[in-house]
Amino acid sequence: MKNRDLIDKLNKEHCLTRDEWVQIFATWDQYDLQYAARLAQCIALERFGRRIFFRGIVEFTNVCRNDCYYCGIRAGNPNVARYRLDEEDILACCADGYTHGFRTFVLQGGEDPYYDKDRMCGIVRAISEKYPDCAVTLSIGELDRDYYQALYDAGASRYLLRHETADPAHYRALHPEKQTLENRLRCLRDLKEIGFQTGCGIMIGTPCESPETLAADMIFMGEFKPEMVGLGPFIPHHDTPFRDEPAGSVDLTILVIALCRIMLPDALIPSTTALGTAESDGRQRGVLAGCNVVMPNLSPMSVRKKYMLYDGKAGTDMSAEAGIRILREQMEEIGYEVVVSRGDFEKRS
Ligand code: 5AD
Repeated sequence: MKNRDLIDKLNKEHCLTRDEWVQIFATWDQYDLQYAARLAQCIALERFGRRIFFRGIVEFTNVCRNDCYYCGIRAGNPNVARYRLDEEDILACCADGYTHGFRTFVLQGGEDPYYDKDRMCGIVRAISEKYPDCAVTLSIGELDRDYYQALYDAGASRYLLRHETADPAHYRALHPEKQTLENRLRCLRDLKEIGFQTGCGIMIGTPCESPETLAADMIFMGEFKPEMVGLGPFIPHHDTPFRDEPAGSVDLTILVIALCRIMLPDALIPSTTALGTAESDGRQRGVLAGCNVVMPNLSPMSVRKKYMLYDGKAGTDMSAEAGIRILREQMEEIGYEVVVSRGDFEKRS
């Protein structure tokens, strides 16, 4: 079958075989990319209209116990000025975001043991009590099931944890031995069972990626059925083992976004900061290939340059207000509007 026939099959059946996925990733061309992106945009328009959900991200700690080879804030990078925001700082970011219309706050950080169960649940409870009309999303890595349950009980309703790759050998190439794909997947299953709207996802173009690893990712996501999917190109960071590796392709990222939208029509798919960093109109291209979320940064100016996961990260030199204004303008330029809404996952098909 031709790739475009496989894309039509995906649209009808919402899954493909491993060999079909490998074929797409091994042989796609610009024509296939356009075909997938247009179809994905139509699917998103039909479900969400020209509406893009906004989420405010607060990057509250850059301390991390992990040593992912790709990430700028890995424990083994001695050149990072480490910081932590306390509850009061985090609430101030939320207050700022609330006045700009945000109804979802995403707390993201490294895996920082300082934020133990009690401290983190206290923060979540404080935000949920102060903003009962808002959703609290967490992105704080691999934790015990008890800890996840306590966060859910404290009021968090969504959790982002990219699986990074569903291929065990590829996972091993991106992480030190003590970080395992097995535990990553255990976390994702626990989160879903507890009742979180759960997000997984990958970087596109990491070292050792292949059509086979991408096929494994699509099969995993098709089975796991995440409510959210985070996708962005890999971008090297100068203080990591992957400093000399090439950045991921924006076109391939757009293809993966489009295929995810076709496979998971109801999913919340952000047009990510990494996509906007790799190309100035990357976030717009993401929306035109089926993304329906953007996540501007609400972190205080004083810490932004310290949360550098990769080189050149977009938005680190502007205030929350300016970042929001630019994203709003970018969305309006392509005929979309940014909406004030919690934007929860809704299953329609
Ligand atoms: N390039 C692109 N994305 C990165 N992330 C971490 N480091 C990089 C990088 N160098 C992504 C990972 C992680 C998310 C928070 O950021 O996928 O899950």
